[in-house]
Amino acid sequence: MKIAMVGSGYVGLVSGACFADFGHDVVCIDKDPAKIESLQRGVMPIYEPGLAELVTSNAKSGRLSFTTDLAEGIAGAAAIFIAVGTPSRRGDGHADLSYVYAVAEEIGQTLVNDAVIVTKSTVPVGTGDEVERILSEAGLKVKFAVASNPEFLREGAAIGDFKRPDRIVIGTDDEWARSVMTEVYRPLFLNKAPILFTARRSSELIKYAANAFLAVKITFINEMADLCEKVGADVQDVSRGIGMDGRIGAKFLHAGPGYGGSCFPKDTLALLKTAEDYEAPTRIVEAVVKVNDARKRAMGRKVIEALGGIEAARGKKAALLGLTFKPQTDDMRDSPSIAIAQTLVDAGVEVTAYDPEGMDLARPLMPQVAMCDSAYAAIEGADATVIVTEWDAFRALDLARVKAAMNAPVLVDLRNVYDPAEVRAKGFAYSSVGRP
Ligand code: UGA
Repeated sequence: MKIAMVGSGYVGLVSGACFADFGHDVVCIDKDPAKIESLQRGVMPIYEPGLAELVTSNAKSGRLSFTTDLAEGIAGAAAIFIAVGTPSRRGDGHADLSYVYAVAEEIGQTLVNDAVIVTKSTVPVGTGDEVERILSEAGLKVKFAVASNPEFLREGAAIGDFKRPDRIVIGTDDEWARSVMTEVYRPLFLNKAPILFTARRSSELIKYAANAFLAVKITFINEMADLCEKVGADVQDVSRGIGMDGRIGAKFLHAGPGYGGSCFPKDTLALLKTAEDYEAPTRIVEAVVKVNDARKRAMGRKVIEALGGIEAARGKKAALLGLTFKPQTDDMRDSPSIAIAQTLVDAGVEVTAYDPEGMDLARPLMPQVAMCDSAYAAIEGADATVIVTEWDAFRALDLARVKAAMNAPVLVDLRNVYDPAEVRAKGFAYSSVGRP
């Protein structure tokens, strides 16, 4: 089966490469000639474990190709996925759908065979209706249907998530579209991936509701962590204790510096806008967005406290280990490190940093931070070392070496990577999140 993937960003590229790996014939399309040209050379525009190998091997076998020409790319495809960006629109937080609609227009002008058009981009409820309207007005001579098929890929684990999904959601009322989509995902049925067929609007909302719920879960445990610090409880035990309840579930209950990334911040805002437009306010999500925003700066203040308070902190040096919003990615979008670095710089603290993958993208976002070649170089002469992102490389630092390199042995562990007793026994002043 031939599949076209319009948009070769994160979602399009991972999905396209995985579909090809399942044996489909996939063309990835993108307007950006530089991106297509580098993909043709096997150079990935993003960092995602395993992606380069998957793209290269499938390109070599002839099942995966790249083009800037939409008409050529979609010709003969039974399913055409729209996987272009839907960034937050400046000013109001609405998802910017101009790229999605532009692709729909272009498909309307160039489609020459029957095809199911599938929105894979995260799009607000009703977007599928609008795509259908655009295609209907294009006066196509061929049969088409519009389906919704949201993605649930986590950066850093995207290929595993694609190949072994918790579920596949397909939104369409059209029987033919349903059979085409069944064919598209047949290799995954064989892996017994549960599939949920539903109406298009329900499918669109499932995506936002899932991300918002996960954001609620994280923010809930983060507030519990703050409470733990006040009452002398340990948030990791609280998390374990509630997570063992099957109704709650253990995942996404890890307290930290607040969620970031390209999805939760953008999707929660977009959900709020939809809720406002339809006069069905989602107060819980509103609170989550505010609490999470405030938390990032609060983490900066936590470091200042560890440096001895606002007066003492001025002129001291803090080393940030990890800048990306989570490990195994170079993505810096809405990373807590940005607000943490800014809070420290504002307080007159000298900031150094090291991240295994994120420094190139971080540099322009935090121009006053000195980027270093290694964790140990960043730590040199520091008055506080701060673990911001839980990269594996920071989980087993040589603490004796860290202590010797630092000006004062102060460790602020915003991801609860270390055992407090062990670190304190090595002579560190240690603080973490929600632990006594
Ligand atoms: C998220 C969802 O997990 C995916 O299912 C979804 O497909 C994706 O958004 C999307 O909409 O495209 P992602 O943003 O890649 O994936 O990253 P997550 O692993 O969900 O982490 C998001 C943030 O939450 C990170 O900043 C992470 O550090 C934080 N987090 C996560 C916590 O602070 N605690 C946790 O227990 C879990």
